[in-house]
Amino acid sequence: MFPSSLPVPRLPSEKAIPVLRWGIMGPGWIAEHFARALKEHTGQQLVAVAGRNRAKVQAFAERWTIPAVFSCIDDMLLMNDLDAIYIATPHNHHYPDGLKALSAGKHVLIEKPLALNVREGEALQTLARQKGLLCMEGMWCDFTPKYDVLRQLITDDVLGDIHTLIADHGEFFTPDHRIFNADLAGGPMLDLGSYLVSLSVMVAGAPVKIQSSGQSAGDNVNGQASMLFEHASGMHSVLNTTLFSNTPGSAVIAGRNATLVLAGQFYAPGGFVLTSSQGRQSLCWEEPSNRYTQLYHEIQHFSWCVGQGLKDSPVRPMSTVLMTLTAMDTVREQLGIVFNEEQQSADSKS
Ligand SMILES: NC(=O)c1ccc[n+]([C@@H]2O[C@H](COP(=O)([O-])OP(=O)(O)OC[C@H]3O[C@@H](n4cnc5c(N)ncnc54)[C@H](OP(=O)(O)O)[C@@H]3O)[C@@H](O)[C@H]2O)c1
Repeated sequence: MFPSSLPVPRLPSEKAIPVLRWGIMGPGWIAEHFARALKEHTGQQLVAVAGRNRAKVQAFAERWTIPAVFSCIDDMLLMNDLDAIYIATPHNHHYPDGLKALSAGKHVLIEKPLALNVREGEALQTLARQKGLLCMEGMWCDFTPKYDVLRQLITDDVLGDIHTLIADHGEFFTPDHRIFNADLAGGPMLDLGSYLVSLSVMVAGAPVKIQSSGQSAGDNVNGQASMLFEHASGMHSVLNTTLFSNTPGSAVIAGRNATLVLAGQFYAPGGFVLTSSQGRQSLCWEEPSNRYTQLYHEIQHFSWCVGQGLKDSPVRPMSTVLMTLTAMDTVREQLGIVFNEEQQSADSKS
């Protein structure tokens, strides 16, 4: 039956969120948004920051009133009064930086994608388990109220059998952006495509069959990938990601009983409409599209997990992260996309 109202988002109680002492690795673009969200919307403490360029790290620390400043991440990790590290370096640094932070006994929140591939993801999971620490991927949308409402609608079977998911995520980037740089694991897949693959895994689990088509951006970097996934339930996911152009970034999740249409960009704060298949009843989710402000939800969730003694997030468990990485690995294999870090094992296989 079509519901009379949307479910209420389930967020951790403020009282159950301990105050952690945070350090940031990689004071770049997303780290600015993270620092703002943490400072303005949580009670968490930002106590340290580390980056390559001393002047840049210093300026970042002054902007966000961070007392400890390091131009070497190893030095920051020697701090005892530091509980958690947010890793916001480029994709191919997530794995080595994550290993270092876990080895130093810190809980880690790693920007998406957790790692370049499932092999690296599993190694992070193994080390976190050995150390008894929380390792969580910062797939920030998963922790927002909107995504919790989506999950409830799907779990409560409001959509009925879901046959089709269609989503795109394309953005125009200038050629100087790191996304065009093969040395930083460039291409749209890990940056933009991870939101698409992650959504399809959230709705229907790991794909059982994948067909992909790609277009190069030159210089050994993929520019566009189109993916067709078949899931065990029979659902098809039709996904496109590109770094050449802006696309609407919307998503449609179509079930027999009802269809969800998420306005672009589907993963960011913003509206969606749930419409019944017959009778045309509808319910709308409305919220300000205050994009990066909502990074605070992942910070709160992570801190809550630490407070609860959890070693894996119930909202974004490592099993889901690894399914997403596995699907992206398959797409890349079909398109012949090999990152520099993977080149040696690819060469030894051939
Ligand atoms: N959650 C989100 O919405 C979101 C949005 C954008 C990006 N991200 C993710 O966050 C990560 C960082 O993205 P970003 O856009 O913030 O990148 P960015 O602006 O280029 O920042 C990257 C940071 O890593 C540092 N870094 C360390 N080693 C580096 C190396 N070898 N080459 C280049 N930089 C290096 C940079 O150092 P310097 O300070 O010395 O330049 C910089 O501080 C990516 O994995 C991306 O997928 C997430």
